[in-house]
Amino acid sequence: MAKPFDMPVTVIVGAQWGDEGKGKVTDFLAEDADVVARYQGGNNAGHTVVANGVEHKLHLLPSGSIHENVKNVIGNGVVVDPAVLLDELKKLHSKGIRPKLFVSDRAAVILPIHKLLDGAYEDKTGGFGTTRRGIGPTYADKIARTGVRVGDLLNAAALRERLAATLPEKLALLQHRGGKVPGHDLAKLMADPTPYVDELTKELSGLGEAVAPMVTDTVALLHESLEANESIVLEGAQGTFLDIDHGTYPFVTSSSTTAGGACTGTGVPPTVVDSVYGIVKAYTTRVGSGPFVTELPHEHGPGKHLTEVGHEFGTTTGRRRRVGWLDLVLLKRAVQVNGMTSIALTKLDVLAGVGELQVCVAYEVDGSQTTRLPGNAATMARANPVYEAMPGFEAINKATVAKAAREGLAALPAEARRYVEFIEDALDVPVELVGLGPGREQTIDRRMLS
Ligand code: IMP
Repeated sequence: MAKPFDMPVTVIVGAQWGDEGKGKVTDFLAEDADVVARYQGGNNAGHTVVANGVEHKLHLLPSGSIHENVKNVIGNGVVVDPAVLLDELKKLHSKGIRPKLFVSDRAAVILPIHKLLDGAYEDKTGGFGTTRRGIGPTYADKIARTGVRVGDLLNAAALRERLAATLPEKLALLQHRGGKVPGHDLAKLMADPTPYVDELTKELSGLGEAVAPMVTDTVALLHESLEANESIVLEGAQGTFLDIDHGTYPFVTSSSTTAGGACTGTGVPPTVVDSVYGIVKAYTTRVGSGPFVTELPHEHGPGKHLTEVGHEFGTTTGRRRRVGWLDLVLLKRAVQVNGMTSIALTKLDVLAGVGELQVCVAYEVDGSQTTRLPGNAATMARANPVYEAMPGFEAINKATVAKAAREGLAALPAEARRYVEFIEDALDVPVELVGLGPGREQTIDRRMLS
């Protein structure tokens, strides 16, 4: 059957600090896709997908998981907590959904010690406000070549040897950070880690057996799909400014969240990527520490409105997200580093009733204006936003949403339309999808309308 859109390989990337609504957009695009592959991050992510009125919260599983005809891939760039993987699958199975899932044999494994190290660092230093899921320590071990990969879980003897060789150093680091290993005396383990090595080998081999049927060479699988001209969606987690290189370092996550990471994290080469969808929330949010130039106080005024109307609480940790106005300085950089070809603008409806809208068009840093993103967090923390005001709009009722979904932007209040067009002009990237609510039917798909 002919595909409705020519999109053999599409990358989906968050354009801000994550939580832009990638899950919903991926799910929307997954309907036309044969394969959805996650390329980085782990269960620090939280994707809420609403389908047929039922809400699904996914952390590690790709957003195509609720479509049983889609092949879902956890790519080599992802960090996998095998217990979480099995638990998420079990939850979907209990709802009668059985995703087709393939897990890369090369993906790094989040070990219990990684979670302990993550938590201990946060406790000791105040940290970065991480999700404490062990993400940073797992990627650190991957890069240091001292990690465990999913394929290693399938060979108990080799796994034991790997753990015996690498655990002592990690235990020493944990001690330095003032952490503990539940059920063990850390000082004793440092003298003889054997009991812990044995315990982990048993636990991880058991998990390995359970995930084994899903483990495969996903690079080969994706290339078979490419050869069969199947359409592939490469799904990122987090957002551009949490990228280890391009984000607001050190207040970032430990992986390549941007479009380049889609290639290294799956083995799909850059030469076959056709389009890059940047997911842009109609305002800005951030979870955890770090600079946020357009941040608003959440206790009153527009900040309160965005927090409450936008339900800005994390899917993964339940933490209240920090909120602020749209920031074009960030978004211009996001367009550049991702090579964005389209934008999906989410949560436009949340702005209704907030009053006059502000859009940040430049930063004022140490007395001079710039549209360049500062290179370090301390400079960015000193930046003040330069705003352009735009008229606000009132609540968009259900009938108008339905009309807009059928007929396009023209059905929206003029001020809402102008806001979308302003973003499109400023970034010089077409806004192809506009989200007006959590459901799939509350989306304007301008590809269908042009
Ligand atoms: P980590 O990824 O747990 O190491 O956390 C590093 C930073 O990324 C923290 O500020 C987290 O709040 C943030 N972060 C991680 N995952 C997400 C996400 O899915 N959405 C938003 N922020 C995230």
